[in-house]
Amino acid sequence: MRAIAISEPGGPEVLGITELPDPTPGPGEVLIAVQAAGINRADIVQRLGFYPPPPGAPDTPGLEVAGTVAALGAGVDAWSVGDRVCALLAGGGYAELAVAAAAECLPIPAEMSFEEAAGLPETVLTVWSNVMQRAAIQPGESFLVHGGSSGIGTSAIQMLDAFGCPVYATAGSAEKVEVCQALGATRCVNYREQDFVEVLLEATGGRGIDVILDMVGGDYVDRNIQLAAVDGRIVNIAYLQGSQVSANLMPVMLKRLQLTGSTLRAREPEFKAALVAEVRARAWPWLDDQILQPVIHQVFSFAEVSEAHRVMEASTHIGKLILSWE
Ligand SMILES: NC(=O)c1ccc[n+]([C@@H]2O[C@H](COP(=O)([O-])OP(=O)(O)OC[C@H]3O[C@@H](n4cnc5c(N)ncnc54)[C@H](OP(=O)(O)O)[C@@H]3O)[C@@H](O)[C@H]2O)c1
Repeated sequence: MRAIAISEPGGPEVLGITELPDPTPGPGEVLIAVQAAGINRADIVQRLGFYPPPPGAPDTPGLEVAGTVAALGAGVDAWSVGDRVCALLAGGGYAELAVAAAAECLPIPAEMSFEEAAGLPETVLTVWSNVMQRAAIQPGESFLVHGGSSGIGTSAIQMLDAFGCPVYATAGSAEKVEVCQALGATRCVNYREQDFVEVLLEATGGRGIDVILDMVGGDYVDRNIQLAAVDGRIVNIAYLQGSQVSANLMPVMLKRLQLTGSTLRAREPEFKAALVAEVRARAWPWLDDQILQPVIHQVFSFAEVSEAHRVMEASTHIGKLILSWE
């Protein structure tokens, strides 16, 4: 099969198409004929040599795919050959064939293209796991996502809006702000022009935000603590601006805040299977009802993978970047 290899740690130019042996599905796994794969920030970090695949995962990058089931491993009865699925992977998605746990596959809604579906698993599962489960957000509680125009952010805004929460976001340009508000954010702050703590304290009548989903870190750690409401929860899924920070923790005690976080890729299969089942039951109907729609910035052919990584690194995109074999 054709797959994308990282020839050595480095810039986007180290990515290229190579030939690899076809993988075979083990017990409880399915083989997917990949039509499209989602690009994630983690793929960039892996390409740079700082995020090796977990033990047992392929070296080929790619954490999510969409395609058709091509073969079933022993004991799989939930799927049939030919089913249209999207799947979460621990690696190996930038390829013509990928092996996924049967329990980490989700059906592609009717009418949805492979390119759209390939952008769903990472964002929807990460948001559900961190915001609905870890932070245990309740309908009516206020929610803020930093990086509102990111793949994660565009899903988070729509999902929390559907969940019945007033949604706030931050983003780095006027165009990004507009898209976040069109997706359902009550208010999106352009952090390059305004102080989001000031604006959002005012917007919430001084009450602050109940749940904050943060991928930025750096000085946002201290500012999130200032902005959080009493009994607020702050969940970090990345620290793009650094994890070594200085912060005043006094409000953590005074406001009874919870600072938490998680990474999805390294979680045990049982956790991922339970998460996928919950998301299929609770969030997947939003796709059928078109309350949740994938936001795709651009689809690249696999041969253009280096260019696709350059676009992500420039951070000018809004929503997901997708690779396609079409
Ligand atoms: N922990 C987990 O399980 C998990 C799972 C999935 C993703 N993630 C993480 O979540 C983050 C979002 O993922 P994604 O795939 O949606 O990525 P993405 O689309 O590239 O989004 C990152 C966004 O963060 C904003 N940003 C703020 N400071 C930044 C900085 N210093 N460098 C780069 N971007 C910065 C950018 O928008 P502005 O223009 O508004 O600044 C950018 O759009 C990534 O860091 C990813 O690794 C974590």
